[in-house]
Amino acid sequence: MVIEGPAGIGKTALLAAARTAAADGGMRVLRSRGTELERDFAFGVVRQLFEPPLAEASELERADLLQAAAGVAAGLLGLPGAPADGPHSSSVDPSFTILHGLYWLCANLAAQCPLCLVVDDVHWADAASLRYLVFLLTRLEELDAALVVATRPREEGADAELLAAVTTDPSAEVIRLPPLTRPAVAHLLESRLGGPADPIFVDACLGATRGTPFLVGVLVDALSEGGIGPTAEAARHVERIGARTVGRSIALRLRRLPEHAGRLARALAVLEQSDLLQAGRLAGLEELEAAEAIRSSPAPNEHKPTAVPRDSSPGNPVRQSASHSTCWSASPPAMAGLSSGWSRPRARRGSRAL
Ligand SMILES: Nc1ncnc2c1ncn2[C@@H]1O[C@H](COP(=O)(O)OP(=O)(O)OP(=O)(O)O)[C@@H](O)[C@H]1O
Ligand SMILES: [Mg+2]
Repeated sequence: MVIEGPAGIGKTALLAAARTAAADGGMRVLRSRGTELERDFAFGVVRQLFEPPLAEASELERADLLQAAAGVAAGLLGLPGAPADGPHSSSVDPSFTILHGLYWLCANLAAQCPLCLVVDDVHWADAASLRYLVFLLTRLEELDAALVVATRPREEGADAELLAAVTTDPSAEVIRLPPLTRPAVAHLLESRLGGPADPIFVDACLGATRGTPFLVGVLVDALSEGGIGPTAEAARHVERIGARTVGRSIALRLRRLPEHAGRLARALAVLEQSDLLQAGRLAGLEELEAAEAIRSSPAPNEHKPTAVPRDSSPGNPVRQSASHSTCWSASPPAMAGLSSGWSRPRARRGSRAL
């Protein structure tokens, strides 16, 4: 199962619910998480999955789990309780030996008790672990095991091909998390701020956050700290507070984007609506650089200014990448947050700063 959605949409929260449901249903849950800093650490995500059950196992159980191929892989990876020098043949590709052995480790664990493997932020998983997940997926039906992963749709630097092999496997059920609905936002406001929420106030909060649970939470915290109740009169405060709080968290995310993408987003925030060429010029980017910047930006549903493609010739790379952006729009708080960090770029050769 693949849970997909942009930052702050509730993937980790849903995984937590999945873990609880699996454990309640008698499955053994093994979990791990990809992190930006550890993506160069081969098999890091896999180690997180399999180290705890090996460390917790008795000597007898461990000997059972690490029979034959599983023991060889554990030895190569230095997993807990692995034989110091496994009986592997030097003529076998070590990567296949590891994948094969890890498959058997998973199979041995699943033979003890139904398994639920849960991997959060799989877009940041190291390539070796992704390769293992692909290897495992094609053989998962043979095992009493389930794999649940959460991923952002497009993340800079992710190993796109391997990630796609995991997330688009024909056996995978994909859940794309939508933003919170209006009644859901109203419910959150009522439970956190007290009293029935006025529809005008709800609309203001929905507009400021676009229903992203993380941003709704940040906004509600700030409203609650400010002692602001969910009334129609108080709706005007939402934009101001939203600009400060929601804008700040968006600006933080933008700071982590590649430089071109951040500059383009700020330019679009200033222009509010623009075609890619114009926004690219303001950002001091060549047309193709701007198109690439759009491609490397977070997915729709996050707060994105709108860039409308100017060149609509089929197959044109600008059109193709910009087409993602036609459904983006910037809420006023988001734009305030973005444009506050704006500094005018130097004009570059071949481009015209506006
Ligand atoms: N359905 C929901 N209703 C209310 N709050 C929610 C809901 N889903 C998630 N949240 C809250 O929103 C915040 C962000 O959720 P979560 O961390 O699960 O997002 P995420 O998709 O994992 O983000 P990231 O990609 O950054 O890891 C959390 O504080 C979480 O408790
Ligand atoms: Mg998460």
